[in-house]
Amino acid sequence: METEILKDSQIQRAVDFLSDGQLVAFPTETVYGLGADATRSDIVKNVYAAKGRPSDNPLIVHVSSPEMVWQYADNSYKPLAEKLMKNFWPGPLTIIMPIQKDSLSKAVTGGLSTAAFRMPNNKVTLSLIEKFGKPIVGPSANTSGKPSPTLAKHVYHDLKGKIAAILDDGPTILGVESTVIDLSTDVPTILRPGMITVEDLLKVIDDVRSDHHKVKDEEIPKAPGMKYKHYAPSAQVVIVDDVNDFPKAISEYQEKNVPIGILATDEILKEAPDDFRKFSLGNDVISASKHLFAGLRGLDAENVNYILAQGFPNADHGDAYRNRLNKSAGQKHYEN
Ligand code: TXA
Ligand code: MG
Repeated sequence: METEILKDSQIQRAVDFLSDGQLVAFPTETVYGLGADATRSDIVKNVYAAKGRPSDNPLIVHVSSPEMVWQYADNSYKPLAEKLMKNFWPGPLTIIMPIQKDSLSKAVTGGLSTAAFRMPNNKVTLSLIEKFGKPIVGPSANTSGKPSPTLAKHVYHDLKGKIAAILDDGPTILGVESTVIDLSTDVPTILRPGMITVEDLLKVIDDVRSDHHKVKDEEIPKAPGMKYKHYAPSAQVVIVDDVNDFPKAISEYQEKNVPIGILATDEILKEAPDDFRKFSLGNDVISASKHLFAGLRGLDAENVNYILAQGFPNADHGDAYRNRLNKSAGQKHYEN
């Protein structure tokens, strides 16, 4: 199949594809998602196939209004959820709640009694869902295991020929996926860190626990997606936590005599040798979050063997960045 690239003036064409049971990638403020009719299990199955995603990994249900959620979620956490929605929606917060029995298929929930809901902060996609009139599932629109797509061309690279269309709305603003919070536990629990932080959440609700760092491969993780290999380019990523270590790391890796990439702030890149492939993270951890996945993909395309990537170990609001970078590196840090 030919994958069409659609502009925001062609939302109706995207709606028609969805109504016809086709897959359409859509923009959000975090990363591009892979959209399909959330109410049709036969169609949702095609999402897993296109991504090569394990089928026990449940999908986020994207809505265009809080009201849409209550057609599926049960009311047990409604007051708490409404507080979160009022403060953070539309925005990068995914809320997990128990659902009404049989309201969503196993293909969406992975057989759990809960589902994940999110109202993205992107005009094109809110209008897409509204016009479609039903929620759409949306995992990140990458091949499973690869960095999430922050540009339409990343989606095209991974999924061309496998999906009907990509709604192109330019580069995504945040660059890392939404914060996932599970309300169905004693204390609301963060399963995946994102740009909405524990501190942000504590301004609105009384208590939040953070669980994402405890998830190991052997355990049954609360967010099934957290157990799989993630965000990994073909090159080995090596995290350089202390910026003062860059000169030494650079000369050590230069001795290997293979192509090396460097993913760092402008200040560090200035000092990097000419034969290194360079990708700028901008100046701080916020811009680094925005450019991380594009950087991993860009350097990979240059066939480097190693990527030296800046760690931002202490930066405020750096949780999401560090979490994704750690996974892409398989936890490999440069040791001086
Ligand atoms: O920013 C985002 O969240 C993007 C954009 C496209 O909205 N979407 C995204 O979807 O990152 P995905 O499928 O790549 O990640 C969803 C995560 C997975 O780790 C999944 O296991 C978890 O949410 N999840 C979904 N439903 C769940 C549930 N009922 N219980 C626990 N975890 C769940
Ligand atoms: Mg993903």
